[in-house]
Amino acid sequence: MILQSLVLLLLTAIAPVFAETGIDAWLRYAPLSSSVTRGHLNSFPNHIVALNATKDGPLSSAASELQKGIKGILGLNLGVSSSQKSCSAQKTIVVSTLDSYKSACGKLPPKLDLIQDGYWLSTKGESVQIIGQNERGALYGAFQYLSLLGQGNFSQVAFASNPSAPIRWSNQWDNLNAGTAAHGSIERGYGGVSIFFENGYVKKDLSRVPLYGRLLASVGLNGIVINNVNADATLLNETNLEGVKRIADLFRPWGVQVGISLNFASPQVLGELDTFDPLDETVIKWWTDKSNRIYELVPDFAGYLVKANSEGQPGPLTYNRTLSQGANLFAKAIEPHGGIVVFRAFVYDQLNETDWKADRANAAVEFFKDLDGQFDSNVLVQIKFGPIDFQVREPPSPLFVNIPKTPVSIELEVTQEYLGQQCHLVYLPPLWQTILGFDMRANGRQSYIRDIVTGKTFNHKLSGYAGVINIGMNDTWIGSHLAMSNMFAFGRLAWNPQADSQDIVEEWTRLTFGLNRDVVSAIVSMSMKSWPAYEDYSGNLGIQTLTDILYTHYGANPASQDNNGWGQWTRADSKTIGMDRTVSNGTGNAGQYAKDVAHMFEYTQTTPDDLMLWFHHVPYTFKLHSGKTVIQHFYDAHYAGSATAQTFPTTWKSLEGQIDAERYKEVLYRLTYQAGHSLVWRDAISEFYRNLSSIPDQLNRVRNHPHRIEAEAMDLSDFTIVDVDPTECASKYKAIATNGTGTATTKLNVPSGKYNVAVNYYDVMGGIANYEVLLNGKSVGTWKGDSENYLGHDYSSFLDCHSAIRITFEGVKIKKGDTLTIKGTGNALEQAAIDYVSILPQGVVD
Ligand SMILES: *[C@@H]1O[C@H](CO)[C@@H](O)[C@H](O)[C@H]1NC(C)=O
Ligand SMILES: *[C@@H]1O[C@H](CO)[C@@H](O)[C@H](O)[C@H]1NC(C)=O
Ligand SMILES: *[C@@H]1O[C@H](CO)[C@@H](O)[C@H](O)[C@H]1NC(C)=O
Ligand SMILES: *[C@@H]1O[C@H](CO)[C@@H](O)[C@H](O)[C@H]1NC(C)=O
Ligand SMILES: *[C@@H]1O[C@H](CO)[C@@H](O)[C@H](O)[C@H]1NC(C)=O
Ligand SMILES: *[C@@H]1O[C@H](CO)[C@@H](O)[C@H](O)[C@H]1NC(C)=O
Ligand SMILES: *[C@@H]1O[C@H](CO)[C@@H](O)[C@H](O)[C@H]1NC(C)=O
Ligand SMILES: *[C@@H]1O[C@H](CO)[C@@H](O)[C@H](O)[C@H]1NC(C)=O
Ligand SMILES: *[C@@H]1O[C@H](CO)[C@@H](O)[C@H](O)[C@H]1NC(C)=O
Repeated sequence: MILQSLVLLLLTAIAPVFAETGIDAWLRYAPLSSSVTRGHLNSFPNHIVALNATKDGPLSSAASELQKGIKGILGLNLGVSSSQKSCSAQKTIVVSTLDSYKSACGKLPPKLDLIQDGYWLSTKGESVQIIGQNERGALYGAFQYLSLLGQGNFSQVAFASNPSAPIRWSNQWDNLNAGTAAHGSIERGYGGVSIFFENGYVKKDLSRVPLYGRLLASVGLNGIVINNVNADATLLNETNLEGVKRIADLFRPWGVQVGISLNFASPQVLGELDTFDPLDETVIKWWTDKSNRIYELVPDFAGYLVKANSEGQPGPLTYNRTLSQGANLFAKAIEPHGGIVVFRAFVYDQLNETDWKADRANAAVEFFKDLDGQFDSNVLVQIKFGPIDFQVREPPSPLFVNIPKTPVSIELEVTQEYLGQQCHLVYLPPLWQTILGFDMRANGRQSYIRDIVTGKTFNHKLSGYAGVINIGMNDTWIGSHLAMSNMFAFGRLAWNPQADSQDIVEEWTRLTFGLNRDVVSAIVSMSMKSWPAYEDYSGNLGIQTLTDILYTHYGANPASQDNNGWGQWTRADSKTIGMDRTVSNGTGNAGQYAKDVAHMFEYTQTTPDDLMLWFHHVPYTFKLHSGKTVIQHFYDAHYAGSATAQTFPTTWKSLEGQIDAERYKEVLYRLTYQAGHSLVWRDAISEFYRNLSSIPDQLNRVRNHPHRIEAEAMDLSDFTIVDVDPTECASKYKAIATNGTGTATTKLNVPSGKYNVAVNYYDVMGGIANYEVLLNGKSVGTWKGDSENYLGHDYSSFLDCHSAIRITFEGVKIKKGDTLTIKGTGNALEQAAIDYVSILPQGVVD
């Protein structure tokens, strides 16, 4: 018995303390090494005092989180009490609201200016003070303190911190999937199924909800809209509203208030009324009753999010009512309860590209400008950061300066819908800060977007941020370990939009991966390079991301932007490219900005290169400020961006052994995939515009791949040469495919030596094809078309730029004249399909 427990003890002592699945994200509370804690443990507080905490409220969470964190990080077991006597005793951590602290302890730091949710944190003096303006603030202060400890930062600090705006919400686009036996899917979610819904109901097992609440609270987020803006009316039925109550009860200890998205036509969809006219008395009563019921169940319910008359959603325009009349219907229904209505500005109609002046970017201002002043005071208009739709580069939405009488919030997308769907590392804060730090010059005065969305510029109390986060049941939450830095940073920027992007990812990395300097500097450096690289190998100069906008929003398909009604046009032809958004000759969109900004965007001379094609229609030979032509910039950027992506797996590999095996392997898989897929992007976009413009690359890289062997040029047995659509998604426009088992063979006419053998193939959904590379009949390696089990982007059924993927076998010894064979076996709906093989000398990528 004794021996057994001893063995067990030993085993637990050497086993890693944490299984690093990603579930704890940045709240791992991993133990600090003794070299970091040395000299700090003896003087460390030995007791936590939580003053006057409400049961199951944020202050109680703060106390238990401090206990848990300190145990994890420092290995110390601290007791929690509520004894007011000890509130200023030595070696105590006091966590409290301001009012309780005042009445129990009296003394306060001078000039303590806390606003709602703000906190004071002091580690100077006898005791550690964590004092919130409210309980939530105390919880945020506790998390901040734990972040310092987790980073091994024992310095004496004393500071107050206040949020930049009161609304700091997560938006989740989770579906109920009513009438199906499906787990709740998530629109534009790449991290598994919903933590809230399944089969049309709120789930019985909501065990992930408090964990999510904890993550949100840890970065100062205080609200969440739990369901898709393309809303399912059945969320409002009694069974589901009781489910919403269960969800709200689980978020409440973390200070996260729950709201829901509404389907405008709910009374009709649910079969209870035959109209949803916002001015109809029965409709008004229906919503009033519904809202009253919701507040009975959830007294601190946050409010409604509404997407109306957009992309097929019903709305007030059906009844010739204004959008503001629609918004006010809900506003009046929840105003007595203190709730708010967040009305999305993402309203636009299909347009006809033959009309040179048609422009989806104009829609928001056209729909909302005249309504300024007509919204009830508890309505907030939520504006996507740019005028189109979360592209890799956009100017700020002009709506931000067109409705000064209306409170607004900014909508950012944490989930990477157009930005690599968590399969490409793209650290987003540098993109967000191009928007938040943009001076809109309202009334000729300095007015940064960050000051508009925090209510400063136009003097509004209600204001803030929404992040479309879309975490799911995956252990990594968002689908990828590294992509969680975006969620972390969203919270940090909503708290302080001027925080430094690099500082944020540094903090996140230390908490997520530990203090090892090599690890921190590698992850920070990759993260900071990642958005510029992604922009470089996707869509440049403001032309938009150039993903397939009609299908997955994932891989390249530049032609999909044009010749349809969606208005994400590039207007590229054989000579020219770009949207003419000038007032003088174009859509007039530049004129929707305030004077100084309008003037800047009106002329190519003053428009920055990175937005040139957003605002101007120019020849491919147009000279940018950089001195390059548009077309040469495209080529150069695509080569530079994908070259940067090649360094990511190499950088990551330098960390082997310094990161737990599980996360090391998972991240390496993704970065390797990204490096390969960035080449697919590079080649597709370069080829597309090479073909369209007929202008060659000055550096002769495009269409010139000396290390490649096209699969269609090999000796084929039971493989068929097939077209790929779009054609630029295959090297030399063709691939080979088989449903059975085929072989493709060729003699290698390269000098004898060591090579990396890269195979570009296609991995679609619906089956798992098998592959093998052989040299002189001997296996070099095998692989499967099974990336759908590891990646989680929106999959394609076709041979295209979404399914195109690369595998590389490194350091293969080849003798001149060796025979290379690729064997492929299709499975179910997945053909084995190969584009080309590259025989790459060491250090060469092509
Ligand atoms: C404790 O909190 C309650 C409400 O949360 C408040 O009414 C009361 O005054 C507080 N007591 C102290 C000593 O601060
Ligand atoms: C510790 O944290 C404080 C407060 O954020 C910061 O000012 C200081 O630079 C940090 N110290 C170190 C060594 O990182
Ligand atoms: C609520 O909606 C679900 C999903 O459509 C449905 O199955 C259920 O019967 C409804 N319950 C009530 C009480 O209306
Ligand atoms: C729609 O409303 C506007 C303004 O209230 C009014 O001028 C117009 O006649 C209405 N149209 C219809 C078809 O009811
Ligand atoms: C767009 O407008 C052109 C010219 O007015 C017309 O020929 C074409 O049918 C329109 N297309 C659509 C989809 O309405
Ligand atoms: C998380 O997602 C990845 C990629 O789709 C997958 O390989 C893994 O099995 C998922 N894990 C869980 C627990 O859902
Ligand atoms: C002005 O607009 C027309 C379309 O109406 C377009 O064909 C032309 O290229 C534009 N001119 C300039 C200088 O951009
Ligand atoms: C080149 O572009 C033309 C249209 O400009 C298109 O018809 C053709 O299919 C393209 N060729 C290739 C190989 O993609
Ligand atoms: C494989 O089967 C599918 C479905 O029958 C067919 O569309 C496709 O052309 C086949 N592929 C080849 C290479 O024969």
